[in-house]
Amino acid sequence: MPTDHSAAATNANPLHDGAANRPQPKACSLVIFGATGDLTHRKLIPALYNLAADGDLPPGIAIIGFARRPKTDDEFRKEMEEATRKFSRQPVNDELWKAFAQSLFYHRSEFDNDDGYHALAERLDKLDAERATGGRRMFYLAAGPEQFEPIISRLAKSGLNKPGGSSGEGWSRVIVEKPFGTDLESARKLNGVVSSAFHESNTYRIDHFLGKETAQNIMVLRFANAIFEPIWNARYIDHIEITAAETLGVEGRAGYYETSGALRDMVQNHLIQLLTLVCMEPPTDLSADSVRDEKVKVLRSLRPMKTAEEVAKHVVRGQYSAGSINGQPAPAYRQEQNVKPGTMTETFVAMRVLLDNWRWNGVPIYIRVGKRLPKSGAEISVHFKNAPGVLFNRDGVDGGAGTNGAGGANVLVIRIQPDEGVSLRMQSKLPGAALRIEPVKMDFQYGESFGKASPEAYERLLLDAMSGDPTLFARRDEVEEAWQFVDNIEQAWHGSTASGATSEAKADGSAPPLCEYPAGSWGPKEADELLDHDGRQWRRF
Ligand code: BG6
Repeated sequence: MPTDHSAAATNANPLHDGAANRPQPKACSLVIFGATGDLTHRKLIPALYNLAADGDLPPGIAIIGFARRPKTDDEFRKEMEEATRKFSRQPVNDELWKAFAQSLFYHRSEFDNDDGYHALAERLDKLDAERATGGRRMFYLAAGPEQFEPIISRLAKSGLNKPGGSSGEGWSRVIVEKPFGTDLESARKLNGVVSSAFHESNTYRIDHFLGKETAQNIMVLRFANAIFEPIWNARYIDHIEITAAETLGVEGRAGYYETSGALRDMVQNHLIQLLTLVCMEPPTDLSADSVRDEKVKVLRSLRPMKTAEEVAKHVVRGQYSAGSINGQPAPAYRQEQNVKPGTMTETFVAMRVLLDNWRWNGVPIYIRVGKRLPKSGAEISVHFKNAPGVLFNRDGVDGGAGTNGAGGANVLVIRIQPDEGVSLRMQSKLPGAALRIEPVKMDFQYGESFGKASPEAYERLLLDAMSGDPTLFARRDEVEEAWQFVDNIEQAWHGSTASGATSEAKADGSAPPLCEYPAGSWGPKEADELLDHDGRQWRRF
């Protein structure tokens, strides 16, 4: 698709524009709890380095790793350098790294030790005096979720939840990583703990899918183009599919995954968030609350599945058995390290979701997510209704591959990752004397049109939090509504919404089955049957 790089075309992207036009945030102290953990190594420090390399990070920033193991600042810098060289999106430049490393510091403490927080407060005051951080403090909870409460209560006890310094330019914000609770009850409790220390406007609940460039583009695609909105409803749309597939298995995270499963790990947050962006009404403006108000309305329209029968009818859960991916043998989930023998944890979910509102009445939204599938990728496909079959499927007109059948409908595909882009499938006449019709694809690819790679989701989100923009973070009510929907399903599967029940069978034996699928396949046959039943098929990608 040709690209118009004129000012008008660029201005058509309000979300992107907002971020690009806003001034660089003022320097702050960013304290990362869980500094020796996986997330810090793989995502956070590489994201911060890339922001620095692109000139987007305020130079005076102080990044303080907070963790239990003894370590000097230099040792921490060395460790972070190794991680960044391994995981950074762009190659590490030695000079740039040297400058960036000067903003890294290490603070050793137990998470529940009051003295450790008092010492941290003193250190932050000292950094304020030495650097340009001006009492601005950001606390990133990247430690295990069991540490969230002890950390937040100690931040409050030591006064670190209040703006620092005396200039009046200080602030104190908290970023909470997922999982934000494990069910509605625990999420409410955690929300209570967070809100007792931080105002909602200073609370940033991360869902990293919202930071993906392509997820941000959903609103732009829908609301900055006049052609989609009039047909974006039950009158013209037959169904929607949202898929997130991974070839990876649990990769040594079984300890967490056994208490989560695919439904909590991916559906409650990432996939439901994508659904809200696709299905929301246009907000009145682009302020964080206007956007999130509309998303919450979608969540409130989710038709609940109140009984085990309804769950069995609309949801398929699966677990991978041994198989092969790209010619390599892959073990069964039950053979992975730290997985309970006979575990009932699901590694795959397919479901039919219905929204009870005017726009989407009767339009099924199929969600599919799984580990150890044949390909990695996430996409949303919007399947339009067929054209009326009055012209091209008549006798004598060869419609080829289903002119007006299932294969003939227009499909708009939003590729979240990889190969980020958007394509539209439509029908076209095959050149020649005969009237033959074939589907063709109009394709827009980010890389090709804009000539640069999309930043990592964490880059955008960290910068937004520093700038005080919560639009791409989940609000309290969003998280709670999503849990409410998911809890019914957990209840039907395990007889409890407690995370400890995830790997257990439901005691009374009334749970819908856990279906098996070989690693490297597109999930259990029951997932195909879910769509067969509605006369549809999953889109293969
Ligand atoms: C995380 C899940 O939130 O998202 C992981 O915990 C999953 O299980 C990951 O692999 C997928 O994110 P991405 O950005 O790598 O597609």
